[in-house]
Amino acid sequence: MSSIEQTLSIIKPDAVERNLAEDIKGIFIKNNLNIVNSKKIHITKDEASEFYKVHQSKPFYSDLCTYLSSGPIVVMILEGKNAVLANRKLMGSTNPKEAEENTIRKLYGISIDKNSVHGSDSIENAKKEIDFFFKN
Ligand code: CDP
Ligand code: MG
Repeated sequence: MSSIEQTLSIIKPDAVERNLAEDIKGIFIKNNLNIVNSKKIHITKDEASEFYKVHQSKPFYSDLCTYLSSGPIVVMILEGKNAVLANRKLMGSTNPKEAEENTIRKLYGISIDKNSVHGSDSIENAKKEIDFFFKN
């Protein structure tokens, strides 16, 4: 079974800072994930805290929100066949050290916190995350 889905991708500050956004976008496009919307923004810590609130009980929550708001990010809506899972596969494991060869995190991630990209983990969360950044 396959269906056309949308998912949210974020190129995190470490990757934007190293001018990797175009390379990462190229990986999505080559793998049939169309970028149907994209914007470069710099969010506040409060906004990052709202975005990542599913992680509020985790020990890394505050650092994670400080980090996501530390510099410009690129937020994108990706669209394609099974886009949620396809994007997660292209991203690789959360910890770049454990990520599979040729995944974005293996290629570009620096550490578990500076791991270059975010991607929605379910269709339901993808809808919420897309709304968070793209609903007027
Ligand atoms: O991003 P992903 O869905 O792969 O991982 P997550 O478990 O939803 O965690 C969200 C983000 O928190 C990760 O991408 C990491 O940047 C960060 N994190 C961290 O800094 N330290 C951890 N032990 C786990 C996650
Ligand atoms: Mg996650």
